[in-house]
Amino acid sequence: MPVYLDNAATSFPKPEAVYQTVNHVFRNIGANPGRSGHKWGIEANRLITDVRETIAKFFNISNPSNIVFTHNGTEAINLGIKGLLNPGDHVITTSMEHNSVLRPLKALAKKGVETTVVRCTGEGYLDPSEVQKAIKINTRLIVTTHASNVTGTLLPIKDINCIAKDNGIFFMLDASQTAGIIMIDVQKLGIDMLACPGHKALLGPQGTGFLYIRDGIELRPLLEGGTGWSSELETQPENLPEKFESGTLNTPGIIGLGTGISFIQTERIEKIRKHEIFLSTELTNRLNEFEEIELYGHESQDKKIGIVSFNIKGLNPLDVGFILDNVYNILVRAGLHCAPEAHKTIGTFPEGCIRISMGYFNTTEEIDLVYEAIKGIIRQV
Ligand code: ALA
Repeated sequence: MPVYLDNAATSFPKPEAVYQTVNHVFRNIGANPGRSGHKWGIEANRLITDVRETIAKFFNISNPSNIVFTHNGTEAINLGIKGLLNPGDHVITTSMEHNSVLRPLKALAKKGVETTVVRCTGEGYLDPSEVQKAIKINTRLIVTTHASNVTGTLLPIKDINCIAKDNGIFFMLDASQTAGIIMIDVQKLGIDMLACPGHKALLGPQGTGFLYIRDGIELRPLLEGGTGWSSELETQPENLPEKFESGTLNTPGIIGLGTGISFIQTERIEKIRKHEIFLSTELTNRLNEFEEIELYGHESQDKKIGIVSFNIKGLNPLDVGFILDNVYNILVRAGLHCAPEAHKTIGTFPEGCIRISMGYFNTTEEIDLVYEAIKGIIRQV
């Protein structure tokens, strides 16, 4: 079995209970939720409603209907951005964003939506005063990642949100790298829209995600179609979540996601974060022994999530990733990580870097194997 250290892309393994849930739902409750009115359809719908409630409790969302299931974080971000913004609007984002934020904004530029990308520091940190300076009369939205998928550096979202609130601007958080590792209370933080994948640190299956939309925010749907209810209407129903959930949901995946979140609640999120930071600190300290290695991201582990990004001087990161995979059986992600602006910010464009991303199930023995592998690669240079 390979050593899997690509948890920022998707977490692996999942808790055993997640596999069991998906298997059970797939085999025994195969119906379409909210459709057909028979007992399996009703049961599938009930289980999905339970997951909405689990998510609502986890993120302190007062109304579970404000949670819209999507197929991943990217779809949730697209729904928030494209559903909200109109020609003539201005939006502020950061240079540490993933393409799932940058590309929808680029697409909207053709429709007259203007974007300012605030540049972060070389460590991937954002100075909130730069956000303040970027505000214009027509700024409608600030959208930022919670933590960079490249460096793991956390952004000061409380400060950014205060700026948004003081200026009557909506704030959308991309929690792709933090949901399930860092507690996010949407009410305390005053988040207007929260986009989350289900398959990363929330420990659910791939093909799951959701967008939380605060009451009072009017979005256009990305899709129109059957919602299981109000079939007599010619137009899309206006009530949430149906307005944004056309077509068959990923029932086994969503119910599996609920089991993933229950696992986190049982283990405790603080314990999960502590473990991941312990492993990333351990690896960072050991990689620091090598003068051939250049590490990226914030030096303080408190200001990061469990990601260790680096390059070996003189080696292309894709080659190192290939050797780790094929010689040492260690799976990491190397290259640009779908975040070219982040790499420009930290000075690693266009080659990118090697990213090792921890999960709750990784062990210190695996970190030892990575250290030995990197030592071996450096000795070969
Ligand atoms: N955003 C994911 C990653 O960073 C896919 O690898």
